[in-house]
Amino acid sequence: MDRLVIEGGSPLRGEVKVGGAKNAALPLMAASILPQGPLVLQNLPTLGDLKTMGRLLGFMGGNVTPFWEGTCERVELDMSKLTRPEAPHELVKTMRASALVLGPLLARYGRAKVSLPGGCAIGVRPIDMHLKALKEMGALFDLSGGDVVATAPTGGLLGARVHFETVTVTGTENIMMAATLAKGTTTIVNAAREPEVSDTARALIAMGAKITGIGTDEITVEGVDSLKGTTYTVMADRIEAGTLIAAVAVAGGQVTLTGAPCSSMEAVLEKFAEAGLNILIEGDKLNVSFEGGTPKAVSATTLPYPGFPTDMQAQFMAVMTLAQGVSIITETIFENRFMHVAELKRLGADITLEGRVAVVKGVKGLSGAPLTASDLRASASLIIAALAAKGKSFLSRVYHLDRGYDSLDGKLRQLGAKIKREKE
Ligand code: EPU
Repeated sequence: MDRLVIEGGSPLRGEVKVGGAKNAALPLMAASILPQGPLVLQNLPTLGDLKTMGRLLGFMGGNVTPFWEGTCERVELDMSKLTRPEAPHELVKTMRASALVLGPLLARYGRAKVSLPGGCAIGVRPIDMHLKALKEMGALFDLSGGDVVATAPTGGLLGARVHFETVTVTGTENIMMAATLAKGTTTIVNAAREPEVSDTARALIAMGAKITGIGTDEITVEGVDSLKGTTYTVMADRIEAGTLIAAVAVAGGQVTLTGAPCSSMEAVLEKFAEAGLNILIEGDKLNVSFEGGTPKAVSATTLPYPGFPTDMQAQFMAVMTLAQGVSIITETIFENRFMHVAELKRLGADITLEGRVAVVKGVKGLSGAPLTASDLRASASLIIAALAAKGKSFLSRVYHLDRGYDSLDGKLRQLGAKIKREKE
């Protein structure tokens, strides 16, 4: 197993390209089940979760070429020979987003068997709202041996008015994909407005789907008889960009992020600007600088888009551990997304947790320590804190990081951070 050795204290300087978005690439890979011909995806990042999704598509009888060997920016997904519309437990348990194949399978093949995801490090995360919505579209479900066995009515799924009780990102994507081939019109009320949902919608439209209301909380999909293959370029990763900004906020320096999805980062950029960072946008270039200072304490509450993203909460908290003053960080999306707190404290952070609220009192400095990653964004948070800490930190269980970042350590190294990867 790999671990990272991080030595704090080096400012970051230079230019780095923001990679493709994990949370757009995952639904787009699942969407390859829908068209008659192959879907070619460009700008895919090289990361564990996408390989898992690739393995799942392969398990079902699909052809994923080339399969990730080293980096792989362009992948052709040909699902025309799908034989097994199933997502087995081994794959779903390592990646909950496997549930994204349910809607496309039901829409295209009328049946699916998907292992019910259990809890995960950040919360219970059921898929009850996905199932309820698909039921409203006529699907029937049986639960057997931990699997959801689903069938569409004869003649296919039916358009419906689906109302999500709370905003669900993959739920919206699942239903939107299912609705593209359903009979009639589907309206998704209280739909997620995340940019990755919109990116998925745009790719579906390129395949021939009829979707309106993109980027709003009411998405309408008029079912069509079939979709065609296409080539689509996945949007850039706003969370990777935000993570790199957080690194500049603690390490100092001046960094240009090229290809950044600036227009989808407003809430995050606002918080970093409030904390004292200089942020300048020039087209898709994001220039970030922070020289010789201490960030100001800024409070943040996670909310569905366009609010402050839960996927940036841990990284933002790492910055706030060193801020001047007290920051209140409230997590409203997941009930247990504070696994990084105990580890940040090991570096010397002063954080008190009360339910879903973390009170972070800025300290003068952190000092390096052995650390354990518990989930994807917690790993990033610990790397950021370690970049500011005095001395060396050792981060184990780096596989959590590699599930969702395309060489974050490599990009930081490119910018001058002292961070190396070694075998444990
Ligand atoms: N929820 C339910 N029932 C459902 C669906 C969701 O109770 O049927 C709850 C969840 O347990 C959670 C809340 O609703 O408390 C919101 O969950 P959502 O469904 O929006 O999350 P998700 O679709 O499973 C995606 C991202 C997450 C990101 C969240 C929130 C993907 C593949 N994953 O998850 O990304 O945190 O939306 O924005 O798109 C990450 O990248 O680190 C990550 C966890």
